[in-house]
Amino acid sequence: MKTIFSGIQPSGTLTLGNYLGAMKHFVDMQDEYNCYFCIVNEHAITVPQERLKLRENTKSLAALYLAAGIDPAKSTLFIQSEVLAHTQLGWMLQCVSYIGELERMTQFKDKSSGGKEGVSSGLLTYPPLMAADILLYKTDIVPVGEDQKQHLELTRNLAQRFNNKFNDIFTVPEVRIPKVGARIMSLQEPTKKMSKSDENQKAYISMLDDEKKIVKKIKSAVTDSEGIVKYDKENKPGVSNLLTIFSICSNRSIEDIENEFKDKGYGEFKQAVAESVVSVLKPIQERYHELIQSEELDDVLDEGADKASFEAQKMLRKAKKAMGLDRAKKKK
Ligand code: AMP
Ligand code: TRP
Repeated sequence: MKTIFSGIQPSGTLTLGNYLGAMKHFVDMQDEYNCYFCIVNEHAITVPQERLKLRENTKSLAALYLAAGIDPAKSTLFIQSEVLAHTQLGWMLQCVSYIGELERMTQFKDKSSGGKEGVSSGLLTYPPLMAADILLYKTDIVPVGEDQKQHLELTRNLAQRFNNKFNDIFTVPEVRIPKVGARIMSLQEPTKKMSKSDENQKAYISMLDDEKKIVKKIKSAVTDSEGIVKYDKENKPGVSNLLTIFSICSNRSIEDIENEFKDKGYGEFKQAVAESVVSVLKPIQERYHELIQSEELDDVLDEGADKASFEAQKMLRKAKKAMGLDRAKKKK
């Protein structure tokens, strides 16, 4: 059975983009693959976090994974900081990566565009930690959204570099990007990706938004003045984004939806999009509210950390040996 690893940062409530671009696919993959799903809180601290808020977001993300359908009997769900091997291998891989290649990462460039003085060095060395997450588990496939493609390319390079330089121990992982939904766009600026860190709350739908909010946000989504429901990413990014969302949430083809709304206006179309989103998110929210107060959640995370540590430790030992970080003991 092939192994899958993916991570999401606990840096705010997940958006519909995270769900459609990442989490939904995780749920679909559980039966076919040996899956690790990680709450990457050590990646979250590359930008300032408030202690209590980070703790809350971490638990909340765990509950969302389960509520969305991650089954702990099939998959390993755990918190990154509870498996020490991640930062240990992360450091070793930092020493294998070059400053130049890290500085070329788009995410780093974007986040440090305001000047490098106030930006943590963790933001620069974020990708080797991500590589460590993945390589510790002999991961074959990493399902992520479009924005993570470059980090995955770097992970592959680091794995190959390590294998050539030291010892051939790492599996070189493949990236898997969903065909639809890999990039759900902002509702207010549909040429920008939907992000939970957007300052404008109307730009994204949170997975925990109630029905009223969802309807309101979709109704005020930016479209165009043409009044025709048609997929055309270049010229009609707003409508195309809503069509993508609708298509995934209702399990219908874009064509089918275009046909239905051929002679109807954006008002009616948006109402239908909103209803499809509510029908997907509502059951997840109900389960979420049960889980967030339960002991079950802690049990799942304890067990996940134990299982992940056991596997990760084996690979860490190999990597240390390959680099000469183990101790040659005198034979007695
Ligand atoms: P992040 O929120 O940056 O930790 O991302 C978690 C996962 O969600 C990653 O696999 C991202 O690629 C994916 N993701 C984030 N935003 C979007 C979006 N707007 N559309 C599709 N996937 C996304
Ligand atoms: N960098 C990813 C993001 O921001 C999160 C992440 C950390 C991740 N480690 C990972 C994703 C390992 C996949 C695999 O979305």
